[in-house]
Amino acid sequence: MFAGSAEIEKAAEVLRAGGLVAVPTETVYGLGANAEDPAALARIFQAKGRPPSHPLIVHIGGAEQLGDWVDEVPETARRLAEHFWPGPLTLVLRRGRRVPLEATGGLETVALRVPAHPVALALLAAFGGGIAAPSANRFGSVSPTTADHVRAELGDAVDFVLDGGPCQVGLESTIVDVTGDTPNVLRPGGVTREDLEAVLGIQLAVPATSHIRVPGQHPSHYAPNAKVVLVEPADVVAEAESAQDRSHRVGVFLPPSLAGTPVKAHAVVAVPESPAVYARELYGFLRELDQRGCDLIIASLPEEKELGVAIANRLRRAAGPRGA
Ligand code: TXA
Ligand code: MG
Repeated sequence: MFAGSAEIEKAAEVLRAGGLVAVPTETVYGLGANAEDPAALARIFQAKGRPPSHPLIVHIGGAEQLGDWVDEVPETARRLAEHFWPGPLTLVLRRGRRVPLEATGGLETVALRVPAHPVALALLAAFGGGIAAPSANRFGSVSPTTADHVRAELGDAVDFVLDGGPCQVGLESTIVDVTGDTPNVLRPGGVTREDLEAVLGIQLAVPATSHIRVPGQHPSHYAPNAKVVLVEPADVVAEAESAQDRSHRVGVFLPPSLAGTPVKAHAVVAVPESPAVYARELYGFLRELDQRGCDLIIASLPEEKELGVAIANRLRRAAGPRGA
C-alpha cells in the first residue's frame, strides 16, 4: 500500500515535468508542485479552485536547507527548525530570491516546513528541490488524511498520488511567523504553544480565535457539507435529538464525558478521549458523517489547552459562516 522507491522516482519525474503530485505528510496530504516552477504552481491553484493570492507552504528536505530559501535565518527560526523539524511546524520568514512570488501569493515572506513522513522525505530527496503544497482538498473543504480522500476529492486534477497511509497528526501544521521581534502563532496545529514556549523559554501571545491573520483562512475553511453547530458538551444529546425530531439527519460528536449515552440521531461518532487520537480522526469523522448523509452535525469543543486548541480551531472553522 505504501509508496515504494519506484513510485517515489516516478513522482519526482512528474514534479520535474511540471506536474502535480499528492504527497503524504504527517499532518495532512499535500498537493505538491515544483516550488520554483510558476506554471506548475498555477496548476495547484486551478486544481484546488483556490485564489492565487493565497500563499503556499514550501516543503524542504531538511533544516540545513533553510538558508537556501530565505533572506536571512533569525536565531528564533534556527532554534525552532532544529528542534521541531522534521515535524508539524511551518515557519514564515522573509522570502529568498529562489522563491517565486507565485508561491507566496505575492508576499515578501515564505512559509517553509520539513514534513515528518518517510515518503515525503524520500520524495524531497529524490526531487532535490522544494515542493510547494497546500492541503490536497478543494478550496474551503476538509483536508484529506488518506490517499483515498485525495482521489475522491481531486480525481484527475492530480497527476500522481503517493500513498503513505493515514496521516498520523491529522491536522495541518502550526504556522509561526518569525519575521518580527516576537514569534507570532498564525495557525494552531500539531506543535502546541506550550511546546514552542518550552523551547524558546518565553511566553507567546494567545491568538484571538476569531482574528487569525493568515490569508487563506476564511471562516468557512475546513467545512464538511453538513452544517456544523457547536453547543456545550452537556447539551449535545438534547440538541441532537431535538434537531432529529425536526427531521434533520443529525450526526453527533458524542464527547468522552457522555460516552455510551444513547442518542436518537442519524449517526453517532464517539469522540476519543485522547486529544492526539481525536486530532488524527477529526477530518475522517467529518467526511464520514457527510458520506452517511447527515445534513447537520452537533458537536462541542474540547478543553482548549495543548492540542485541544488546534482541534477547537478547526471545529470553529467547520462551524463558521458559509460562502465567506
Ligand atoms: O500541515 C500543513 O501545513 C499542510 C501540509 C500539506 O504541509 N499544508 C497546508 O497548506 O495546510 P494550506 O495551503 O492548506 O495552508 C497553508 C496556510 C494557508 O493558510 C496560508 O495562508 C498560510 O499557510 N501561509 C502560507 N504562506 C504564508 C505567508 N508567507 N505568510 C502567512 N501565511 C502563510
Ligand atoms: Mg488547506
